[in-house]
Amino acid sequence: MSSNVVIGLQWGDEGKGKIVDLLSDDVDLAVRCQGGANAGHTVEIGAHKYVLHLVPTGILRPDVRCLIGNGVVVDLPGLFHELTELYKRAIRWEGRLFLAVSAHVVLPYHRLLDQADEHARKEEKIGTTLRGIGPAYADKVGRRGVRIGDLYDPQALRTRLALVALAHRAKIECLSDVKMPDVDAVARELEEYADRIRPFLVNAAEFLHDETTAGKSILYEGAQGTLLDVDFGTYPYVTSSTTTVGGVMTGLGVPPRAVGDVFGVTKAYCTRVGNGPFPTELTGEFGERLRAQGNEYGATTGRPRRCGWLDGVLLKHSCRINGVTHLAVTKLDVLDDLSTIKICTRYDGLCGPLDLAHLASARPVYEEWPGWQEPTSDFTDFGRLPAACRNYLERLADLAEANLAIISTGPRRDQTIRIGH
Ligand code: GDP
Ligand code: IMO
Ligand code: MG
Repeated sequence: MSSNVVIGLQWGDEGKGKIVDLLSDDVDLAVRCQGGANAGHTVEIGAHKYVLHLVPTGILRPDVRCLIGNGVVVDLPGLFHELTELYKRAIRWEGRLFLAVSAHVVLPYHRLLDQADEHARKEEKIGTTLRGIGPAYADKVGRRGVRIGDLYDPQALRTRLALVALAHRAKIECLSDVKMPDVDAVARELEEYADRIRPFLVNAAEFLHDETTAGKSILYEGAQGTLLDVDFGTYPYVTSSTTTVGGVMTGLGVPPRAVGDVFGVTKAYCTRVGNGPFPTELTGEFGERLRAQGNEYGATTGRPRRCGWLDGVLLKHSCRINGVTHLAVTKLDVLDDLSTIKICTRYDGLCGPLDLAHLASARPVYEEWPGWQEPTSDFTDFGRLPAACRNYLERLADLAEANLAIISTGPRRDQTIRIGH
């Protein structure tokens, strides 16, 4: 029995989907605890490519049951669209997908508010995915959110929606081409989904307690990444959930002792979609080259990802916060051609304690490492990798203060080196 966690150590898109898919080969249950359809987790199996947004990646393994926890914000039309697409591709989910009854619902108002907030920020735009995530979490902590369980009481649902509409009407009506959604119409649309989701519903904490007691193995799938965490990321250029290991506890109701190994996922370099500080960003031709080589375009929005060197200062920060025990390094192959590779190991220009909200003035100081300049995608044994490549990876593990556990050298399952587990 094991209960392990996969967490992104950067600004998302580290390749968590691939790592979760690998690690779910022998688990009973795969669980999402936070975020929403802002996530885009890609898995390539043979010639097939799947991108999961709300449904846990474990759904691609026929024997794995999947839970969407209470900490996730659920866009019901989006969820059913995703389920329909999976079904068309012969992924059967009946009887093995569960949804927390106390998860919050992303309402039509939330997408409009996301748009309005971004518009109002002018030069300060976050660059959100416009999936309504921030406003849905704001209504949750504002104590007026609609939870899945509320869909079964027509009167209470309408009263709650009226409260939400009242709170947000003025801002939504500022959007010139948008009409404020009618409370009753929104309620009726939600009620159409209520019957369809009834078979999925569970109390997440009780469900997981029973599974754990029965000795089942569980894999917790983090979405986004540590540097997008609302507390520990580059605030305010973050998402609105706890993307770090604490999200497993708050988003599911499992105690800390239920968590075993923490697999932290980092690319062998860095990327970011959306705005905000990125000290090691490479603009210009070199950044373009990394983007082309790594096919760095967002899995959810298709936006080009900003690219740069690996930031060892932030890697250490992320690993410490999550208590990473196992390091997974992805997209190593993207660096195969380079003659020199840089790693940022400290900053100049910052005074006082490390504060990710004020990284804009950080000037990265780099170590230079010789490249290996040969393809790595066919290696399956760490010891056989070129020495320069092993040295680079060992330096990353050293900065991460964690054991190297998985090296990914391509998007497919077989393009993977596993070390000691
Ligand atoms: P996630 O959100 O963390 O699951 O990551 P995404 O799926 O958004 O983005 C990672 C992208 O990199 C996907 O297109 C993966 O198929 C791809 N990928 C994962 N691992 C590797 C790797 O080792 N090498 C290469 N070239 N691509 C990879
Ligand atoms: P996965 O799980 C990369 C980024 C957005 C934006 C900021 C806030 O695939 O790694 P939001 O819509 O959440 O309010 O946007 O967070 N962002 C992600 N970037 N991968 C993700 O998820 C992301 N989810 C949100 O681009 O900068
Ligand atoms: Mg992604």
